[in-house]
Amino acid sequence: TWTPGSIIDEQVERIRAQVGDAHVICGLSGGVDSSVAAALVHRAVGDQLTCIFVDHGLLRAGEREQVEHDYAEGMGIRVITVDESERFLAALAGVTEPETKRKIIGREFIRSFEAAQRRVVEEVGAAGGQIRFLVQGTLYPDVVESGGGEGAANIKSHHNVGGLPEDLDFALVEPLRALFKDEVRAIGRELGVPDKIVARQPFPGPGLGIRVIGEVTAENLRVLRAADAVVREELTAAGLDDQIWQCPVVLLADVRSVGVQGDGRTYGHPVVLRPVSSEDAMTADWTRLPYEVLARISTRITNTVPEVNRVVLDCTSKPPGTIEWE
Ligand code: XMP
Repeated sequence: TWTPGSIIDEQVERIRAQVGDAHVICGLSGGVDSSVAAALVHRAVGDQLTCIFVDHGLLRAGEREQVEHDYAEGMGIRVITVDESERFLAALAGVTEPETKRKIIGREFIRSFEAAQRRVVEEVGAAGGQIRFLVQGTLYPDVVESGGGEGAANIKSHHNVGGLPEDLDFALVEPLRALFKDEVRAIGRELGVPDKIVARQPFPGPGLGIRVIGEVTAENLRVLRAADAVVREELTAAGLDDQIWQCPVVLLADVRSVGVQGDGRTYGHPVVLRPVSSEDAMTADWTRLPYEVLARISTRITNTVPEVNRVVLDCTSKPPGTIEWE
């Protein structure tokens, strides 16, 4: 039977065999998967690893600081942050179709890595002046749902599987490809990844870009980020983090409804709360959050985010709904 220790030993051997003494880069998203994948590769090849954290402008409030501070400093892993938010926003301008968004975000990630790799070569002097290996925290459910598994349909192109460009310059190192989330968390703990990161709820690589229904603009992102921060704070304050798998907050930028605030009519946007409980994200049930918590979230969002005049609850299981709206 497999234990976290035996999976680590096996993967460390495989990673060493795959990359030899070459330099490796890893795109860090701040999520559990890429953090654990990086820690595993760091265990295997140590200083041959440089992580690249692409700030794509689609992050939630405080996320960049968490990666730079809690993870990089805590783990002693070299991380280079690149701010590519303008590149992503420009590429996403005018785009509303979900799969197109995902493909664009996947493509821009790779372009960002290609640009960042030049910096890595300069800063750490990678042998040969070129980096050939890219670590990805792809899990088994990502493979299945992107159509990579046996007989599976392409439900969504997870940017780290189906959304990669065909002219990819890197060979992929994917040490988590056969694993489920709970196994990844167990391995992360064994590798000493800080609990704050291992216990984090999943957050998709394309970030808030697939939680704005409609066009991803700086303004829409600002509104969604503010609403999302309220939700996360209230769920944590209510002690509910352990009971939910994740709670996407979705901004319906394409939808407006009439409301009233003070003496005036409003014509604002709804946000959707999507709290789910799940074992592995392949199936999920909507979480029955306490009414008081829902009430607090609704009041706080509509009081503090003027563009939002309605908070609605998604009470759909998966299937038929997916967890994310795009
Ligand atoms: P869905 O929406 O397919 O989501 O039910 C299942 C789980 O996967 C996460 N998700 C992603 N994770 N890259 C990721 O790393 C992606 O492109 C992506 N899309 C969805 C989602 O948050 C949920 O936990």
